[in-house]
Amino acid sequence: MAARRGALIALEGVDRAGKSTQGRRLVQGLRAAGHKADLIRFPDRTTEIGQLISSYLVREKDLEDHTVHLLFSANRWEHVPLMKEKLHQGITIVVDRYAFSGVAFTNAKGNFCLDWCKQPDVGLPKPDLILFLHLSPEEAAERGNYGHERYESSSFQEKVLQSFYCLMEDKTLNWKTVDASQSIEDLHREIKSIAEKTMEEVQNKPLEELWK
Ligand code: TMP
Ligand code: MG
Repeated sequence: MAARRGALIALEGVDRAGKSTQGRRLVQGLRAAGHKADLIRFPDRTTEIGQLISSYLVREKDLEDHTVHLLFSANRWEHVPLMKEKLHQGITIVVDRYAFSGVAFTNAKGNFCLDWCKQPDVGLPKPDLILFLHLSPEEAAERGNYGHERYESSSFQEKVLQSFYCLMEDKTLNWKTVDASQSIEDLHREIKSIAEKTMEEVQNKPLEELWK
């Protein structure tokens, strides 16, 4: 029998929904329960491509919109060989944002259709589970001001949310929406239980390709 593989779990959602906190807690919780698990955060600002993306986000550099979209995608592709290796070694990978953020943010700019936005990410490892941390714009506002990076405004975030809703209509993907207004601990427990169920279900199934 082939070795059991790890699951690919993506965390998506609007800014301040708690993706990064929950990503860290999930990996800690899974490890404490005896699973092998790693976290990858996209964009990964540590690579050369990631540094370009970061300088764009902090407004040090202006990049043309198509160009930056492709750089975000390239920043995912540069991780794919290692991600596949780990998944096949039985390591579950939690990604803090993935191709869905890539599509939702560029599509929210208004002049890029969903289909164009998806193309560069077609064929990436397909997540076994996409957890959408849902927080209403009002609740997000209560969590304090946005930072100063590009995209951090409530009007733009509202458009991003609408793009996420369009992506969620794709029933070939395993979207699960969770209520991100709960306490950190309650949300963590809910997410960990959904993640463990998915890991169990997919361990003997082949890894698929996204949007193919
Ligand atoms: P972060 O705040 O999670 O570090 O993400 C940085 C910003 O980059 C955030 O506003 C979302 C945006 N983004 C894209 O525009 N495209 C992408 O592919 C990804 C992963 C993030
Ligand atoms: Mg941010």
